[in-house]
Amino acid sequence: MEGEARTLELVFPEHANPMGNAFGGFVVGLMDKVGSYAAVRRAKKPVVTVAVGRVEFKVPIKVGDLLEVVARVEKVGRTSLTVGVEVYKEQLLRGEPSRVLATRGQLVYVAVDETGAPTPVDGEG
Ligand SMILES: CC(C)(COP(=O)(O)OP(=O)(O)OC[C@H]1O[C@@H](n2cnc3c(N)ncnc32)[C@H](O)[C@@H]1OP(=O)(O)O)[C@@H](O)C(=O)NCCC(=O)NCCS
Repeated sequence: MEGEARTLELVFPEHANPMGNAFGGFVVGLMDKVGSYAAVRRAKKPVVTVAVGRVEFKVPIKVGDLLEVVARVEKVGRTSLTVGVEVYKEQLLRGEPSRVLATRGQLVYVAVDETGAPTPVDGEG
């Protein structure tokens, strides 16, 4: 779908500290990756990340959680795209109530040409 992307990712021990909590950087990396897919879908051009906005880690993400990362383009500028990203966690193996919003944030991407310079988003304006 244009301007949207989502993926599923299981949290493995290498993504977590010895307490079994996922590293924030791992989660932000997933958000950046999926956010860029949403931005590329909308821009129809390559993009680079120019800013990572406020990210809220609302509840812990643990080893064994299945994450659903959902990204949607919220705003389109001349060359930039602001993407809202939500990370839901599902506790597959512990049988607890599922699909809790764990993390959310906003990332900004810029469409670039073959030299890496900003270029207008397709259909902008
Ligand atoms: C992204 C990049 C191409 C922008 O180049 P630039 O010459 O600074 O671009 P401009 O000043 O013309 O701004 C381009 C757009 O980005 C927006 N922008 C720039 N810096 C921003 C910031 N910190 N936050 C939000 N938007 C920003 C501008 O508002 C503009 O948006 P618009 O065209 O929709 O109005 C350049 O900064 C770059 O290559 N950065 C490294 C990107 C990268 O490698 N990312 C991966 C992480 S290592």
